[in-house]
Amino acid sequence: MAFTIIVNGNTHSVDADGDTPLLWVLRDVLGMTGAKFGCGMALCGACTVHIDGAPARSCVTSLDSIGASKIATIEGIGATEPGARIQKAWLDLEVVQCGYCQPGQIMSASALLASNPNPADSDIDDAMSGNICRCGTYVRIREAIKQAAQSTRQGAQK
Ligand code: FES
Ligand code: FES
Repeated sequence: MAFTIIVNGNTHSVDADGDTPLLWVLRDVLGMTGAKFGCGMALCGACTVHIDGAPARSCVTSLDSIGASKIATIEGIGATEPGARIQKAWLDLEVVQCGYCQPGQIMSASALLASNPNPADSDIDDAMSGNICRCGTYVRIREAIKQAAQSTRQGAQK
């Protein structure tokens, strides 16, 4: 069956079964391999994308549940202001180790910054608790989110 989905502002026609996970559609049909497969059970966060701005686990999101919602992925998040600030902070603080979890981390962090420009530590912990990093980059992730939040406030004051 053909579905129309909007990803990073672009409209795509996808011919697949309705119960196909969005992660499969992104990676195997659209060739967007930034979102990663980790657990396939909404437990690790490696596959995180945004659906209408909210972080979502694409491994358990069926194609037929998306409708007209707007999807954003790691391939497009740098075009948004919160995403660009998060990515800059990630680079400045050299957050990444092996990198496998990092697209999901950045998607969760950028959704947090978009909804809460001044997150407290507890907000960061809540927002990021579903994103597992086997390399243990959690301390740098928290610092990078704080740096991005600070740059957001400084930008707003200009
Ligand atoms: S692959 Fe989706 S949450 Fe782990
Ligand atoms: S950077 Fe290796 S799993 Fe997170």
